[in-house]
Amino acid sequence: TWVMKDFAKEKIEEIRVKADGKKVLCALSGGVDSSVAAVLVHKAIGDNLTCIFVDHGLLRKNEGDEVEKIFRERFHMNLIRVNAQDRFLGKLKGVEDPERKRKIIGEEFIRVFEEESNKLGKIDYLVQGTIYPDVVESGTETSQVIKSHHNVGGLPEDIEFELIEPLRELFKDEVRVLGEELGIPHDLVYRQPFPGPGLGIRVLGEVTEEKLEIVREADFIFRDEVKKHGLDETIWQYFAALPNVRSVGVMGDGRTYSHLIALRAVQSTDGMTSEWSRIPYEVLDIVSRRIVNEVPGVNRIVYDVTSKPPSTIEWE
Ligand code: XMP
Repeated sequence: TWVMKDFAKEKIEEIRVKADGKKVLCALSGGVDSSVAAVLVHKAIGDNLTCIFVDHGLLRKNEGDEVEKIFRERFHMNLIRVNAQDRFLGKLKGVEDPERKRKIIGEEFIRVFEEESNKLGKIDYLVQGTIYPDVVESGTETSQVIKSHHNVGGLPEDIEFELIEPLRELFKDEVRVLGEELGIPHDLVYRQPFPGPGLGIRVLGEVTEEKLEIVREADFIFRDEVKKHGLDETIWQYFAALPNVRSVGVMGDGRTYSHLIALRAVQSTDGMTSEWSRIPYEVLDIVSRRIVNEVPGVNRIVYDVTSKPPSTIEWE
């Protein structure tokens, strides 16, 4: 739309005036907001922007490579990908409590990011994908913290650089329009919400490489079928979780004792409340068969039919 075209032009000019010739840093997560913010700033100052993408090993299947590909190959951005899987898994070893896991992932993220940015010398500005609802939310007192929502990407509190927050006036749907205007692929701009701690909170209890692998493959199959059946843009969020429960099954002549996979799909407008999605049985059936056939270590699939409240969207 011309409104967004104008907005983009103005913002790019504004950023250029402010940050031309300066060194600017961005924590890129591959999420909608940080991606749009990064591309906008890149259009203004090109190679003076460096993006750091911390791969914590808790991403969905192929996600890290896709993020890298888009920003390196399509936008020719100065991107540093830090493969920090081992560090995160090491810190999470033996940890079962959901809030502790969130905290560890959030803190480790900041540590990795700081280490990388220190290597770059003096930085003048930091880009953040803050959008209008974030501004409003952080301005109010929340009486009760139900889950600590560390948006991995939320950065050190003792920031010593100034912020560039080009999306501060925009709502999510406007950010999406802007993103497409800037040439970011539709699938990225309209992708479903994904929590900062990633699969770390979709493997319930202790996170291990083996469990991550199982949930990653199951989730991939679920997303693949939802998309194939044309449901991807009608469902707010859909994913697989690994509840860390084993149950008895039968395969051939033998008895199995393997993992359970839970499928979750919800309708929502803001994530605050949600209703479970009425995915057609036929689709669930295909997904269930594919997962037990294709993912070793899984012998049972359940579909979550609770709303929020009383449940939450995620299982942890
Ligand atoms: P819940 O599970 O609380 O989730 O109903 C509501 C929305 O928030 C997302 N979520 C998170 N996002 N860090 C995030 O950045 C988190 O720790 C986190 N926990 C939940 C969830 O995916 C849903 O969209």
